[in-house]
Amino acid sequence: MRLVFLGPPGAGKGTQATRLANELGIPHISTGEILRAAIARSTPTGIEAKAYVDGGELVPFAIVLRLVEDRLQEDDARDGWLLDGFPRNLEQAHALEPLIEKLGQNLDHVVFFEVSDDEVVRRLSGRRVCKTCSETFHLEFSPPPDPQDCAPRQCEIFQRSDDSEDSIRNRLEVYSRETDPLVGHYQESGLLVTVSGSGPIDEVESALREALGHRR
Ligand code: AP5
Repeated sequence: MRLVFLGPPGAGKGTQATRLANELGIPHISTGEILRAAIARSTPTGIEAKAYVDGGELVPFAIVLRLVEDRLQEDDARDGWLLDGFPRNLEQAHALEPLIEKLGQNLDHVVFFEVSDDEVVRRLSGRRVCKTCSETFHLEFSPPPDPQDCAPRQCEIFQRSDDSEDSIRNRLEVYSRETDPLVGHYQESGLLVTVSGSGPIDEVESALREALGHRR
């Protein structure tokens, strides 16, 4: 299956993508994760992308497109993939179409997670991530394990640099200006599946399975 996950920052795309990709045995391709890894390793791409990511702005088109193009051609992506965070505007959506066509593939569904702005702020301000395994937690909804329990895995919990108040506000503005128009775009092409992202994590997972199950 080939899927795109769409939704505002903090909607739970990454949380649900990790679960579904594991279940389907397909790679979870998060452009945000790829960019953060490049920033952590200070690669040329990471150095160029850092200021955009920290400020909640979109990283330039050419950089992101090259990352996605390379990743989709890796062996593990031959039989399916889940794209999380790409495309993020109409320019990227229009670039994805010929790219997957060239690979002889097609997009099955675009899942849109619907969540209110208030919920987004609550989720992002409480989010914590493990530096070692990239697992995502939330101080209230899925608290990180006690550091002592994590000793063997050497978990190191931190807050993402773009989860500051200013960056969250900017990401919401960028989302409504750049990404929200994709909902109409994919609705028109008949690929859109809307899932309420506002309940607890397990409830959203069930709603997602049900929505996709009806369409398999
Ligand atoms: P990216 O990493 O894609 O960030 P995002 O889209 O803003 O999404 P998030 O990762 O913040 O949220 P999420 O929806 O995955 O939520 P999560 O599951 O973590 O991109 C970061 C940056 O990279 C961008 O700003 C941009 O600069 C750049 N970038 C990336 N892609 C790009 C592109 N294509 N073009 C240009 N630039 C690009 O959940 C959030 C929190 O809520 C967690 O704490 C989680 O535990 C909790 N939670 C999740 N679900 C629930 C639930 N149901 N109930 C309660 N809590 C929940």
